[in-house]
Amino acid sequence: MATNMQVLLASRPTGWVEESNFRIVESPIPRPGAGEVLAKVHWLSLDPYMRGRMNAGKSYARAVEIGEVMTGGTVAEVTESNHRKFKPGDYVVGSLGWQQYAVSDGDGLTKIDPKLVPLSCYVGVVGMPGVTAWVGLLEHCRPKAGETVVVSAASGAVGSVVGQLAKMQGCRAVGIAGGSTKCEYVVRDLGFDACVDYKGGKLYDDLKAACPDGIDCYFENVGGEVMDTVFRQLNPFSRVALCGLISEYNLTEPYGVTMMRALLVNRVKLQGFIVSDRMDLYQRALPRLGKAVAEGRIKYRETVAQGLENAPKAFIGMLKGANLGKQLVKVA
Ligand SMILES: NC(=O)c1ccc[n+]([C@@H]2O[C@H](COP(=O)([O-])OP(=O)(O)OC[C@H]3O[C@@H](n4cnc5c(N)ncnc54)[C@H](OP(=O)(O)O)[C@@H]3O)[C@@H](O)[C@H]2O)c1
Repeated sequence: MATNMQVLLASRPTGWVEESNFRIVESPIPRPGAGEVLAKVHWLSLDPYMRGRMNAGKSYARAVEIGEVMTGGTVAEVTESNHRKFKPGDYVVGSLGWQQYAVSDGDGLTKIDPKLVPLSCYVGVVGMPGVTAWVGLLEHCRPKAGETVVVSAASGAVGSVVGQLAKMQGCRAVGIAGGSTKCEYVVRDLGFDACVDYKGGKLYDDLKAACPDGIDCYFENVGGEVMDTVFRQLNPFSRVALCGLISEYNLTEPYGVTMMRALLVNRVKLQGFIVSDRMDLYQRALPRLGKAVAEGRIKYRETVAQGLENAPKAFIGMLKGANLGKQLVKVA
């Protein structure tokens, strides 16, 4: 008999996540009640924010409880429906979590077009990460043609879109990424003007060479020393979109920013943001991102783990930089 595999949060990590923080269980496939659908998950998205959900305590979103299914964005197929808006065979995107099947009342499920772009794109470049790039760059940095835009974690799901949108705005796009393979990909495949390897040991000098006119916009994904180094090269009246701080997510003590003075003397505008606050912009961004991907004007790469049982390992790998592009799990 077919069963439903689920990945639960078994314990809260202290510092780095370990596979033992997760527990894999099998249970009967649930049945949809009145007004509900049963959805079969095809793709699970693995995202850095999930590390935050493993912690107890106050944040912008509720923590996952011990014993609860890990939260996560998914692309799924409706297999049974008692809901007037959905029928079997519909593909949907929504947060169904780390499991093979889920029952939903339809709240938070959006139908998607499987012909426009591959299904997996709807949790990547044509989904939450793509919209994050859009909101941070176009709403908060507001780059003008000719300006220099720098983005960290440049080869990843969000960063790869930031640089390509910056190029469309007529900007100089400079990435920061870990290792020569990622940097080569960012320049050769994604079309950035330059990419600096922060693991190369001379980030300040390499960044200076890549940004001869200084930095007008910085899209921050990582924090820590990378952020401090970029802050030292910001131009007067530059803008920083503070999107993520992945280098700090597994620290037990926060990193102490040392270069706040650079923000003061350069009159820098820094805006922290959470993409889910801007559902209004999803409506504007998603069709445009979908069209750009379908026409090949925005490129993307995926790293795919096969099978839900490999999700914990792939998640830990993504936090350590093992992914190139969007990290996904092929569930079915
Ligand atoms: N504010 C929002 O609403 C929002 C929404 C989505 C994502 N985010 C944030 O955006 C950032 C990127 O997310 P993503 O989904 O696109 O992930 P991603 O870039 O696809 O994957 C994470 C990448 O982070 C880099 N990284 C890990 N540890 C690092 C360290 N110590 N120093 C520098 N880089 C490190 C690694 O690349 P390297 O090999 O290059 O180090 C890794 O591949 C994350 O901080 C995430 O939390 C925020």
